[in-house]
Amino acid sequence: MDASKLMFRDGLMAGERILVTGGGTGLGREMTEAFLKLGAVVHICGRRQGKADEAAQELMAQHGGKVVAHGCDIRDADAIAAMVDAIWAEGGALTGLVNNAAGNFVSRTEDLSVNGFNAISDIVFRGTFYVTHEVGKRLIAEGKKASFLSILTTWVWNGSPFVVPSAMSKAAINTMTQSLAVEWGRYGLRFNAIAPGLFPTEGMSARLSPGGRGDNSNDRMNPMGRHGEMHELANLAVFLMGPGAEWVNGQTIAIDGAGYQATGGNFWSSLSPLGDEEWTKMRDMIKQTNAKDKATRTT
Ligand code: HXC
Repeated sequence: MDASKLMFRDGLMAGERILVTGGGTGLGREMTEAFLKLGAVVHICGRRQGKADEAAQELMAQHGGKVVAHGCDIRDADAIAAMVDAIWAEGGALTGLVNNAAGNFVSRTEDLSVNGFNAISDIVFRGTFYVTHEVGKRLIAEGKKASFLSILTTWVWNGSPFVVPSAMSKAAINTMTQSLAVEWGRYGLRFNAIAPGLFPTEGMSARLSPGGRGDNSNDRMNPMGRHGEMHELANLAVFLMGPGAEWVNGQTIAIDGAGYQATGGNFWSSLSPLGDEEWTKMRDMIKQTNAKDKATRTT
């Protein structure tokens, strides 16, 4: 990210303590960088502790401040409780949680196994709830205020073919956002979400567009003729997480160049004509990526 494109004054987030799940890679790393640059202490977690450590070191070398990396698989509720204990022990209550960690791959739904469905829904649907619940309970018990932000997609409003477990799970987190905004608003806990359009990241491109299929056509179809730039997402995340807009609660805000209005924001309809051979090829490429990632996991 070009940090000079952040819209906010230095020190805006001093005193904030934010956990970004999946904060060592992709969109999570970009938001982590923005919070850090503006003065927050940021905790990040990922299944690949090495990746998270590396990101923390690089970001601190670049901007100073403090990023603490944790190895944690958000599918594991006990591991989350241990991580949140460690965060509280390091410096007290969080002031914010960004639910960013996710898993996804393109597949014809008829080709999914139960394990394939669970691999995605256990991360996005269950894992996101586990982290939110663990952090929320502690904040309520201590009477502390905080901002919760979940990274969704515009598919929460209209569904999406070929990524059904992700679309279902993210729609559920949209419902969690709306529900807890009301239930926990009285505790000073607020819940918002961002629905990004296409912001290409390594993890996403390898699993949602293996071999690069469709990238340019998605940009061409967007009313603004391009995909998103990381600083644009980071600025929106800071606005929602930082001080000064606390009455924004229960909202899911799209940042997609009006792609959703133009085309339903749905990238994958173009995959409908693909046949068995192409799907097999894509599945093999995705599985190779998964295996490579798995080899570097610590949790
Ligand atoms: C069919 C597949 C498959 C594929 C995996 N599986 N890939 N089935 N097609 N392409 C099946 C496996 O065969 C297995 O089922 C089951 O899924 C679990 O596979 P594992 O590799 O053991 O899973 P795991 O190691 O737990 O990995 C989780 C993952 C992986 C979700 C499958 O993709 C991952 O770790 N992703 C994290 C990063 C990521 O996805 N980033 C992109 C996020 S993008 P069987 O039956 O064989 O045992 C995003 C939204 C994008 O979230 C929005 C864009 C706008």
